[in-house]
Amino acid sequence: MAAGWELRALLCLGALLTGGVSADLGAVAVGELHENVTLHCGNVSRPRGLVTWYRNDSEPVFLLSSNASLLPTAPRFSLEDAGALHIQALSLEDEGNYTCQEVLNETRWFLVWLRVASGPDQIQVNISASGALPNGTLYAARGSQVDFSCGSTAQPPPRVEWWFQAQSRPESFGSNLTVSSFTLILMSQNLQGNYTCSARNVLSGRQRKVTTELLVYWPPPSAPQCSAEVSSGSAALKLTCRWDGGYPDPNFLWTEEPGGMIVGNSELGTETLNQSQLSDGKKFKCVGSHIVGPEPGASCVVQILSPLLASHPMKTCFVGGNVTLTCQVSGANPPATIQWLRNLTQPEAAIQPSSHYLITQDNQSSTLTIHNCSQALDEGFYFCQAKNLVGVRAVDVWLSVKEPLNIGGIVGTIVSLLLLGLAIISGLMLYYSPVLCWKAGSTFRGQDMGDVMVLVDSEEEEDEEDEEEEENAIEEVEQETNEREELPKEVCKHGHIHRVTALVNGNLDHMGNGLQDLQDDNDEQQSYTIQEPV
Ligand SMILES: *[C@@H]1O[C@H](CO)[C@@H](O)[C@H](O)[C@H]1NC(C)=O
Ligand SMILES: *[C@@H]1O[C@H](CO)[C@@H](O)[C@H](O)[C@H]1NC(C)=O
Ligand SMILES: *[C@@H]1O[C@H](CO)[C@@H](O)[C@H](O)[C@H]1NC(C)=O
Ligand SMILES: *[C@@H]1O[C@H](CO)[C@@H](O)[C@H](O)[C@H]1NC(C)=O
Ligand SMILES: *[C@@H]1O[C@H](CO)[C@@H](O)[C@H](O)[C@H]1NC(C)=O
Ligand SMILES: *[C@@H]1O[C@H](CO)[C@@H](O)[C@H](O)[C@H]1NC(C)=O
Ligand SMILES: *[C@@H]1O[C@H](CO)[C@@H](O)[C@H](O)[C@H]1NC(C)=O
Ligand SMILES: *[C@@H]1O[C@H](CO)[C@@H](O)[C@H](O)[C@H]1NC(C)=O
Ligand SMILES: *[C@@H]1O[C@H](CO)[C@@H](O)[C@H](O)[C@H]1NC(C)=O
Ligand SMILES: *[C@@H]1O[C@H](CO)[C@@H](O)[C@H](O)[C@H]1NC(C)=O
Ligand SMILES: *[C@@H]1O[C@H](CO)[C@@H](O)[C@H](O)[C@H]1NC(C)=O
Ligand SMILES: *[C@@H]1O[C@H](CO)[C@@H](O)[C@H](O)[C@H]1NC(C)=O
Repeated sequence: MAAGWELRALLCLGALLTGGVSADLGAVAVGELHENVTLHCGNVSRPRGLVTWYRNDSEPVFLLSSNASLLPTAPRFSLEDAGALHIQALSLEDEGNYTCQEVLNETRWFLVWLRVASGPDQIQVNISASGALPNGTLYAARGSQVDFSCGSTAQPPPRVEWWFQAQSRPESFGSNLTVSSFTLILMSQNLQGNYTCSARNVLSGRQRKVTTELLVYWPPPSAPQCSAEVSSGSAALKLTCRWDGGYPDPNFLWTEEPGGMIVGNSELGTETLNQSQLSDGKKFKCVGSHIVGPEPGASCVVQILSPLLASHPMKTCFVGGNVTLTCQVSGANPPATIQWLRNLTQPEAAIQPSSHYLITQDNQSSTLTIHNCSQALDEGFYFCQAKNLVGVRAVDVWLSVKEPLNIGGIVGTIVSLLLLGLAIISGLMLYYSPVLCWKAGSTFRGQDMGDVMVLVDSEEEEDEEDEEEEENAIEEVEQETNEREELPKEVCKHGHIHRVTALVNGNLDHMGNGLQDLQDDNDEQQSYTIQEPV
């Protein structure tokens, strides 16, 4: 494009100045601002004739000549070998068209178009990131929108290019954006890297680059998790706050609640407390803060609690038989260690597993199975003791060891049972709180002895057999107590069974061995009624 245009202009100039004399093709020379430039008088290496340089503005202006009697118009201009024009310290005004006239056998004209390039000297890069780190590195939140723009002044206007180099790839895979500004709508992890804006002067080839590192950050996706555990082998408590999945790692601040006294501040999220800093019920709060996370941070609370215990107050074992005592710990944080003792004042003499004692621990419950019960050795109190850093609790279980029952006495037993049952129910009526069991109580009050028999029978069946029967029994009570909530209803029912069994235990000297199963089953059902007024 430029060449054809220059040719036409040259022909025009030639016609104007020389009236048809031959002329070389015009050339373009590029100089940089404040630099020197040399314009050649045509592409000729032969000896030159008289060379005169003109500036071809509105009309040709004489600059200098090889005729020494004609002085240059400015000292910046000088002639070099072969008639070339040397211009020092270019200014933007020097841009223009120059003609060289050579007079030999014939007069020839040569056109040179001098273009003066300037810059780019500096680049202004603007990245609308989320923020800057203390060391100046920019970061953007994942999913956010980031605008990039690049500005530079140059003569003529530069060509601006953006390059991107990802962290994960060592080689440049420049997305080669030949625009000065662009927007990334959804920042993602693979857009983390170095963004380079380069501005290039197409005339001079001069290039400037600015590289900006942009990190892409994201907060953890879920809430932090607090936990407390005993440091291995020490009496210290380790608080742990986990808040994973973010980049970079968050910061954790542990404080005491209430009061906000600072326990520690770290990137790990763990703090170690000694026993003196702990007490039952004390709470510790962890606040996780992430550079692009929610402003107030995300928190969790851990409460230090001493153990609570539930067990059966009494158990029975037949001589030579087996019995299992269970103990359930709840609420302990950090988790409690559970021991079985015969004597609370001798905690060091905890029962150790042996052929006689089988101890199993499952999470926060412990069972003690005594094999081959003997009255002399095994009857008495057993203590389940649970202990953690903030408390010790113990619950006692009375184990009575009975002689195996005589089958022949069963008939007599049943008779006494019936009488007993009557007595028990009367006792129950008096004993139970009317608030809890009024309805059930009043039903029993109205029943005759035949009903009582049914009651005892049904217990045996339901305990030995299936749950269907039990449901029937529940329904029975439900019908009579339908205005009450479900839970108290069941408590009432089982509490009742418990009563019956307890008294049966105390008096069933003549019952068969088969009743042992019944008792054990009942015990299981009672496990949560222990707290009742027994
Ligand atoms: C320009 O030319 C002058 C004289 O020839 C010389 O002294 C000067 O160093 C040159 N400047 C540059 C930038 O080359
Ligand atoms: C003159 O120009 C021709 C073609 O344009 C080129 O081949 C030649 O090398 C040039 N001679 C000089 C001395 O620049
Ligand atoms: C040279 O100057 C003349 C006027 O003196 C003008 O008409 C012509 O266009 C100029 N040539 C160029 C190439 O600028
Ligand atoms: C050089 O310039 C002078 C003064 O203008 C002139 O008299 C003389 O003829 C010129 N010499 C040549 C070779 O053109
Ligand atoms: C010099 O000449 C070219 C054509 O050859 C033209 O495009 C350009 O504008 C001219 N420069 C000036 C400063 O007149
Ligand atoms: C000048 O012209 C003459 C005759 O036309 C010729 O003999 C001579 O070689 C030419 N000189 C140059 C330098 O072209
Ligand atoms: C950079 O961005 C800010 C905010 O968008 C704007 O105010 C400022 O003018 C921009 N600067 C450049 C050089 O683009
Ligand atoms: C600035 O700090 C961040 C995070 O520590 C790091 O990834 C980055 O390389 C640092 N940048 C510079 C230029 O030191
Ligand atoms: C980005 O640039 C910084 C500083 O120039 C360099 O340390 C870092 O390795 C670069 N990152 C990539 C992905 O090239
Ligand atoms: C960038 O684009 C230009 C033209 O579109 C191309 O010539 C060049 O090779 C590209 N560069 C890269 C690194 O892809
Ligand atoms: C008691 O347990 C032992 C060991 O599990 C078992 O061999 C034995 O039969 C059990 N005795 C009774 C009466 O269940
Ligand atoms: C418990 O141990 C203490 C101290 O050894 C002792 O005095 C006490 O009699 C023991 N109690 C029972 C029930 O064994």
